[in-house]
Amino acid sequence: MGFIMNLTLKIWRQKNAEDKGRMVEYKVSDISEHMSFLEMMDVLNEQLINKGEEPVAFDHDCREGICGMCSLYINGEAHGPDRGVTTCQLHMRMFNDGDTIYIEPWRAKAFPVIKDLIVDRTAFERIQQAGGYISVNTSGNTTDANAILIPKENADKAMDAATCIGCGACVATCKNSSAMLFVGAKVSQFALLPQGQVEAAERVQNMVAQMDKEGFGNCTNTGACEIECPKGISLENIARMNREFLSANLKG
Ligand code: SF4
Ligand code: FES
Repeated sequence: MGFIMNLTLKIWRQKNAEDKGRMVEYKVSDISEHMSFLEMMDVLNEQLINKGEEPVAFDHDCREGICGMCSLYINGEAHGPDRGVTTCQLHMRMFNDGDTIYIEPWRAKAFPVIKDLIVDRTAFERIQQAGGYISVNTSGNTTDANAILIPKENADKAMDAATCIGCGACVATCKNSSAMLFVGAKVSQFALLPQGQVEAAERVQNMVAQMDKEGFGNCTNTGACEIECPKGISLENIARMNREFLSANLKG
């Protein structure tokens, strides 16, 4: 059965991008410790709909830690108090009966609020479009990818970097709203593999240029991003991106 909770929620409500927004208090009851945080939000929204009130808008899709949509700032932490999980994987057992929970959207200049808890993260899409891909010769004369030998250590690190789900928790957590962990992961994923070498220099230059254009801040090595990243993306990826950037610039 597990334990049941009654909670007070203080939630950021904002009608649209122009609205000033404010925190609004709600009560929810009979919340099971087995529910996910988003299921708890569903309970609240059902209550609001039944009362004829506007439900709280929040992003979600896969609900299994893959899509990166569920961007909530909970009690001052991206994705809440647990480690290595997204909001959809956060369980209500992390809270206690009678708790007051503060729920806010990601706050960063480059992620403007669209409505309530939903922010516009298309800045990440534009960074990806600037270089987060490889061009493949599809003439029929290409080498089978599996025929190219790659050191196991590099394959593992590339795979780890590729687990970034683009959730934006790193940006939301950083006091400078830096996107370096995200961009570092996306650059590293290709920089570690032979397939990524052809466009390596222009990739890092273009992605960093787009990142700056979008209004993300600089990295001051605080390391908060790594702690709050649900996928454990390492700061080592930022260092690799900086090396790639320096060597691309030196090559002119
Ligand atoms: S680096 Fe981590 S926190 Fe940042 S977008 Fe990727 S998965 Fe999310
Ligand atoms: S809803 Fe997809 S990661 Fe949470």
